[in-house]
Amino acid sequence: MTGLKKVKTAVFISGRGSNLNNLIKFSKTKKSPIIIDLVISDKKAFGLKYADQYKIKKKIISFKSIKIAEKKCLIILKKRNIELICLAGFMRILSKNFIKKFKGIIINIHPSYLPKYKGLNTSLRALKNNEKFSGCTVHYVSSKLDSGKVILQKKVRITKNETEISLDRKIIKEEHKLYPAAISKILY
Ligand code: GRF
Repeated sequence: MTGLKKVKTAVFISGRGSNLNNLIKFSKTKKSPIIIDLVISDKKAFGLKYADQYKIKKKIISFKSIKIAEKKCLIILKKRNIELICLAGFMRILSKNFIKKFKGIIINIHPSYLPKYKGLNTSLRALKNNEKFSGCTVHYVSSKLDSGKVILQKKVRITKNETEISLDRKIIKEEHKLYPAAISKILY
């Protein structure tokens, strides 16, 4: 990245928000190419507390009607000149139309080594299939679930006696390193 202007970023969440918290902390470092300007959630998510804590603008938008929700999102994204959207545990699939209309970049983090285990319950499914490893992936968002071009991925070894909880814990730790690294990779 040239110059000092940081990329205005919105983070979309639905839940716990540990990636949001991690990205906010990253954004405050000198080496970060982004500034987090907006948090959007489709419900009263636990993670919204990080927006409050860091005094970042937050918006809860109901996705009962996807069409209306996406319209509202696009208006606020445009108003605030958002250039990058980071999905972080956002449990909605954005439409082709939204992806086309938003003129910036949209990326997502997923708790598996894609293309394996798209969708939900990734660790449980990997364990049930006796996989030797799982992992996490940051990828561009396309209109097909968890299928856009991969930016960065990290493998996590599945050890003997691994449980869903222990595996999830190992993966989320790697996610917190991977997401900032992927953002730096595409913006610098
Ligand atoms: C993460 O595992 C992420 O990969 C997936 O949803 C989870 C969100 O966790 N998309 P958190 O809300 O960031 O703690």
